[in-house]
Amino acid sequence: MNVLVIGSGGREHALSWKIAQSSLLNQLYIAPGNAGTAAVGENVPLNIHDFESIKKFVLEKKVDMVVVGPEAPLVAGISDFFNADKELAAVAVIGPGKLGATLEGSKDFAKAFMQRHNIPTAAYKTFTKDNLNEGYRFLGSLKPPYVLKADGLAAGKGVLILDDLAEAKRELKEMVADAKFGEASSQVVVEEFLAGTELSVFILTDGKVYKKLPVAKDYKRIGEGDAGLNTGGMGAVSPVLFADKKFMDKVEHRVIIPTVKGLEKDNIPYKGFIFFGLISVKGEPYVIEYNCRLGDPETEVILPRLKSDLLDLFDGIASGTLSECDVDIDSRTTTTVMLVSGGYPEAYEKGKAIRVGTVDESVVFHAGTTKKGNRVVTNGGRVMAVTSYGKDMEDALKKSYNSIEKIHFEGMNFRKDIGFDLVKTPSKPKAKAE
Ligand code: AMP
Ligand code: GLY
Repeated sequence: MNVLVIGSGGREHALSWKIAQSSLLNQLYIAPGNAGTAAVGENVPLNIHDFESIKKFVLEKKVDMVVVGPEAPLVAGISDFFNADKELAAVAVIGPGKLGATLEGSKDFAKAFMQRHNIPTAAYKTFTKDNLNEGYRFLGSLKPPYVLKADGLAAGKGVLILDDLAEAKRELKEMVADAKFGEASSQVVVEEFLAGTELSVFILTDGKVYKKLPVAKDYKRIGEGDAGLNTGGMGAVSPVLFADKKFMDKVEHRVIIPTVKGLEKDNIPYKGFIFFGLISVKGEPYVIEYNCRLGDPETEVILPRLKSDLLDLFDGIASGTLSECDVDIDSRTTTTVMLVSGGYPEAYEKGKAIRVGTVDESVVFHAGTTKKGNRVVTNGGRVMAVTSYGKDMEDALKKSYNSIEKIHFEGMNFRKDIGFDLVKTPSKPKAKAE
C-alpha cells in the first residue's frame, strides 16, 4: 500500500513511525512532515489545505490511502473532497467528512449531539449577539467558575474559565459581539463547570464497528503542578490508573456506544478516530469535548502501546472488515515528555540547532523540527516528544528524563513532573487499568 500522512507534528511522526512498521506498506509519504518523519518516509512539501495539489500528488504517486492527522483539513472537508471525486474513488481516507468533523468543529453541534443521544456532559446553553441578555441571565444562574467556549475552531484558545461573573459577562459580549476569536466566537457555548480529573479516550471506527485504543492523560499547562498557560500538551502517560475496568465500562456504555450509535442514527458517516476528552467527576465520566482526530502528545504514548498493525486496522475501515481486526495492546506503561522552545506558548525563536546524543532507552518523536542543510533545527513551539516504555509510570518516566539529558537546543524547556498527579499512594491497591 502507498500511504500519505497529512500533518507535521509529533502525532504525525508517531503515526508514520507506526505505519512504517506495517507489512502492508509499500511507500510512505508525509505532507509536509518534519525532520523526524523524513527518517521513516518521504516528506512532500504540500500545503495541507490545498486539496487539488494533494489530489495531483495522490494520483501521480498512486497513493492508496490518505491518513489525516490534524483537524483543520477534516473540518474543511478533505474527506468529502476525496469521496466526491471519481478519479479518487479508490483512495481510502482515514478521517471523517465535514459533518462528522463538526463534532470538533462546532461545540454547539457537539453539545446538541450529546443531548440528543443522552451522553453525559455539562449542562449548557448557546448564545449569539442576538440573545446576549439571555446569556447574561444564564451566567447569573450558574455557580462560578464560568465556562465560555467559542463555538468554532480557535487554535486551542477558545475556552475561557472565569471566576468572576462580571468578567464572564464582559468576555461573553467580547466573544459574540466584538469577535474576540473572529467568526469562531460568533456563537458561544456557556456551560456548567465540572470538577474532576481529565483523561483522553480514543476509538477507531468505520461508523458502525469500533475498536478501543489505549487510554491516556495529557498535561496541558506549561508549568509544573499544572500551573500557567495552556499549551498544545507538555507530556502524556498511558495507561491511566484510575481508568480501571469499572470506570471504562461506564465510558463504553454511556459514551462510546451512544456516540457511535448516535452517528449512525443521525446519518453521519464516520471513518476515522474519535477522541473523547473526558472528565471523571467522582468516578462518573462526562464528555468535555469531542475531537475528530488523535491527540498530541497522546498519540506518542498510545501508538507505541499498539501491538497490532495500524495499516491493517485502517484497511479494515476502508474495506468494512474492521470487526475482524484484532487490537493487541502492550501491557507496559508508556510516557512521553515534550521538549519545547524557550518562551513557548508565548513568543519563541526558531532555527536553534538540536543535538541528540545516543538515545537508546526512548523513542524520540519530532514535532516542530526541520532540516537546515544537514542539521536538524527547531521549527515550532513543541519540538520533540521523548517516549519510553516502563514496567510502570515511574520506570518509564525515569527513562524519558535520562534520555532528555542527551538532547539539547538553546532555550529547551520541559516539565519535570509529568504524571505527578497519578503517582500511586502506597496504601492504595494497584488498579487494573485499561
Ligand atoms: P475544550 O477545548 O472543550 O477541551 O476545553 C479546554 C479545557 O478547558 C479542557 O481540557 C478542560 O480542562 C477545560 N474545560 C472545558 N470545559 C470544562 C467544564 N465544563 N468544566 C471544567 N473544565 C472544563
Ligand atoms: N492533547 C490534546 C489535543 O490533542 O487536543
